[in-house]
Amino acid sequence: MSRLRSAMQKGKRTTLDVNDVTEPAKPPRKRPKVALKEEEARDTTLSSLYHIFNDQADITHFRSQLLDWYDSGKRELPWRTMATNEPDLNIRTYAVWVSEIMLQQTQVATVIAYYNKWMKRWPTVQDLAAATLEEVNQMWAGLGYYSRGRRLHEGAQKVVSELKGQMPRTVESLLKQLPGVGRYTAGAIGSIALGQVTGAVDGNVIRVLCRVRAIGADSTSPAVTEALWGLANTLVQPERPGDFNQAMMELGARICTPKGPLCTHCPIQSHCRSYRKVHIKQEENSKRLLGKLDKKPSTLSDIEDCMNSGTCNLCPTEPWDDGLGVQNFPRKPVKKAPRVERTLTCVVVRSVEGEEEQYMLTQRPNKGLLAGMWEFPSLLQEEDNSEAKHKGALCAEVGKMLGVKLNKSLFQYVGEVVHIFSHIHQTYVVYSVFLNDAEERKTQNENTQWLTRHALQEAAVSTGVKKILKLYESTTSQEEQITKDGKRKKTAVKNEKTLQTSKRPKVGTATNGVKQLSLSSFFKTVKEES
Ligand code: ADE
Repeated sequence: MSRLRSAMQKGKRTTLDVNDVTEPAKPPRKRPKVALKEEEARDTTLSSLYHIFNDQADITHFRSQLLDWYDSGKRELPWRTMATNEPDLNIRTYAVWVSEIMLQQTQVATVIAYYNKWMKRWPTVQDLAAATLEEVNQMWAGLGYYSRGRRLHEGAQKVVSELKGQMPRTVESLLKQLPGVGRYTAGAIGSIALGQVTGAVDGNVIRVLCRVRAIGADSTSPAVTEALWGLANTLVQPERPGDFNQAMMELGARICTPKGPLCTHCPIQSHCRSYRKVHIKQEENSKRLLGKLDKKPSTLSDIEDCMNSGTCNLCPTEPWDDGLGVQNFPRKPVKKAPRVERTLTCVVVRSVEGEEEQYMLTQRPNKGLLAGMWEFPSLLQEEDNSEAKHKGALCAEVGKMLGVKLNKSLFQYVGEVVHIFSHIHQTYVVYSVFLNDAEERKTQNENTQWLTRHALQEAAVSTGVKKILKLYESTTSQEEQITKDGKRKKTAVKNEKTLQTSKRPKVGTATNGVKQLSLSSFFKTVKEES
């Protein structure tokens, strides 16, 4: 048994396991979860040579083929330029940190513009620390997963206040000191900005490695996770760890794609166990078709298949699917269905004589989903109840926020907007109400703001809010036209008498000691009014 293989099975580190960039180990106080998982994974790993690299010549060949491919056609990306050209280690680390956080759940093409804007506004960690969360959220608007921006901001403040403005310099300290930085992100920043010799296993790299070494067990299991990190740490090129890791990511993004991988263009095709397997299976199938092979599949040699297949915790548990080819790898666990939620939301608009219309926004709590973001007044819909009940609930909520008594008949149903978060299937049931009184202008507190349409577009609001606004505007545009200066021009309005006698409450009358607003019924359709 080779030294590496034997060490893998016993759970020892080898010289090929190059993840020794960590700071000196301190005596353990309590056993961290990760370490336990690693142990479990190693104890049960019965993988054969099939799933690892054990030949140094093979490893050297793999590295040079991959890096030659990367050098000849890599994408020029702003954070790569920073990582190569920025001489200041602190700025370089900060710049790569920002890019890695932005890239966590967002495509490269989308990130570029956000990244350039961010780095122009906050070129150092000190600049970011001095910004407000509001400004950060505003800059992040449209990127999604807003907690990422918040954590960057928190991290920058921590670096300035607790680390004397010095970004961490090792994988271990990046992991320990920076909120939102996990094993992958620490590995990526450490290798790209600091030249630390460590692998970095993200989604693209998982796919590449699972295919290269035919790892088909659940790619989120502890055994597979540890095997992939072992492979990444073994393969990383010690002289160019950052480029090597980015080359692996780039290969996953451009060649070894989830669907329709371009195997014929792959620089490391000769190392790919799944590519080989596809060809062996095809040959078997052709022979069988020609009657040259037994019904049962042939027994493949150690190098062609896993010796422990059946007991191996890296081999697929599902049967091989000829139709999938190399896409038999990796295998993901069945995803948990997202939580289904319905939220009542109300676009509250006010018109003030001679000024642009304004929309009411409230701030979400500082913790949880879309923390600290601004949104239209909203309520979770607990039961599947009627439109009248929705209006009643929203009327009470908006009235409470404004400190006034409103009439629920003035609330109009607008429609529904679906927005998918990673774990929530959210449907916004949208209503609107139009306030036509300068009085409630007084309602401006910490958690409430009135914004013009333009300011709303610029504000730190989520994509869900923008979708709601779009729906609202699409329904109102048929009834009204917004003039160039942003003022509402009615095309179909009730005459004053009708308003007074039907739904419009009397101007300025007091009810139960609470001020009653005057409201217009602008959003009534012509049909309803006739
Ligand atoms: N995804 C995550 N990090 C990346 C990087 N540095 N380059 C390209 N894609 C990435």
